[in-house]
Amino acid sequence: MRYITFALAKGRLARTTLSYLERIGVTCEEMKDPDTRKLIFVNEEYKLKFFLAKATDVPTYVEYGAADIGVAGKDTIMEEGRNLYEVMDLGFGKCRMCVCGPASARELLKRNEIIRVASKYPNIAKHYFNDTKNQTVEIIKLNGSVELAPIVGLSEVIVDIVETGNTLRENGLEVLEEICPLSARVVVNQVSLKMEHDRIMHILNELNLVLKEDSRK
Ligand code: PRP
Repeated sequence: MRYITFALAKGRLARTTLSYLERIGVTCEEMKDPDTRKLIFVNEEYKLKFFLAKATDVPTYVEYGAADIGVAGKDTIMEEGRNLYEVMDLGFGKCRMCVCGPASARELLKRNEIIRVASKYPNIAKHYFNDTKNQTVEIIKLNGSVELAPIVGLSEVIVDIVETGNTLRENGLEVLEEICPLSARVVVNQVSLKMEHDRIMHILNELNLVLKEDSRK
């Protein structure tokens, strides 16, 4: 039997995903060792392999078939725009993709002015402003601490993830428009879903049962 390989976005999403996998009987003790430098872990019982990748790389591994299944945030999946099947909403890691800025930027959005938008998600920002809102904007790609941009005058607004809203509040910014809700999703390689249909569907169905159990609590 061939191995089914999982690519998990390292960090909280991977930890939560592993706890769900444990509940369906799939364990991977080695992976829990916080000191390990190992990158790939094997469960011989079910012929599964797991690796932790940078979140933005998960869709890449899955599109090319280096991983059969991936777990990543909807933000990453949208931004990367890879050819893969998004098959399940895991319902955790909930947050929102928003246009944020100082309250004074509200007017600029309303008047459809040409503004600068800073974001770690240039594709999502571009699609939202160009296609959904029909507003011409200049997108500036940043790699983190995006809230800085409107404060130091790099851009008028940002497109970013809002979870608790604390980062915005502490920096005098607010949500101006909501683009879409986000959460952790399971993605599957298109060929793998055909070739390993039964094994993959079995894992997904088991996960679904655990999610349903939780939602009833
Ligand atoms: C994310 C996001 C916001 C913040 C939102 O950043 O880009 O900055 O979390 O969370 P909150 O609404 O609960 O405050 P992250 O911590 O990933 O760091 P980064 O900006 O450096 O990428």
